[in-house]
Amino acid sequence: MKFFLLGLLLIGVACATPNTAALRQSLTKATRNIQPEARIIGGEPATKSSRTSYLISLSISAIAYAHVCAGAIIGKEWVLTAAHCLEELKESATDVIGLPVYAGLQDRSDIENAQIRTIDFAFAHKQFNASQEGSPDIALLHVTPGFEFGADVNAVILPYRNEDYANKTSVTYGWGLTRRDAEQYAKQLQVGSAQVLSETQCREQLPEDTPLGSNQICAETLACFGDGGSPLVHETLGGTELVGITSWGYTPCGSKGSPTVYTEVSRFIKWISDVQWAYYVLN
Ligand SMILES: *[C@@H]1O[C@H](CO)[C@@H](O)[C@H](O)[C@H]1NC(C)=O
Ligand SMILES: *[C@@H]1O[C@H](CO)[C@@H](O)[C@H](O)[C@H]1NC(C)=O
Repeated sequence: MKFFLLGLLLIGVACATPNTAALRQSLTKATRNIQPEARIIGGEPATKSSRTSYLISLSISAIAYAHVCAGAIIGKEWVLTAAHCLEELKESATDVIGLPVYAGLQDRSDIENAQIRTIDFAFAHKQFNASQEGSPDIALLHVTPGFEFGADVNAVILPYRNEDYANKTSVTYGWGLTRRDAEQYAKQLQVGSAQVLSETQCREQLPEDTPLGSNQICAETLACFGDGGSPLVHETLGGTELVGITSWGYTPCGSKGSPTVYTEVSRFIKWISDVQWAYYVLN
């Protein structure tokens, strides 16, 4: 079974939305599919020195912080995430506009020092279709006011257009499930590392009828629920480059030999600047 690595709202997470019944149902479904050995990204807590200043957490509610998806800061006012995350937010909060973005977080139980910004514009790729895993799972958010850049909050570097990261080492960070019996998403940021697989290498590992899209890549990072939208990055001495956005995988999540599928960011560089241009023309 295929699934988007969306955030399914978990028991114990503060929630002020009218849609809890529906979310509980999806939670039940998800939990049943997760096997005991399931592990987000091979789970290892990220250290303070980790280069994660571009990482953000999206909350399903504007009243209480409840993680649903992650994303990456690509500019003072811009965040890149997965389109399936927007669908999830829309379902639970009716409107994405007005929802908060949390930056500068590592331990999610400590939001005191987070930079909290408000989404005032959200745009998912027009060809994204939640029933088609191979469709472009990418969305751009504009936040207000802009982030204050410093040691804890900063932008990730976008790749060159069509840059190929196949066989390169990549790292992913996320707060998704770390255990099958976990009742909440990870509080402490987790990190996992794996080689980027090209589309061909990925097809070899996935079932024959896989709906893998031509603008998707994989890595054996063992992502799980709550990791949706999380960045897959290539860390170099010159900085951190955004390779992918966590999109989907097969259940049970976190199985060895079943790579996680990512939106290939280098294929959407023009799309990103087109959306930003449209925003500035309209505003
Ligand atoms: C989304 O995909 C499904 C399944 O392929 C299809 O039936 C549906 O018409 C698509 N929706 C849109 C808006 O294209
Ligand atoms: C990655 O490695 C595979 C197998 O070793 C090789 O066939 C392929 O050309 C490599 N791709 C790149 C972009 O280096």
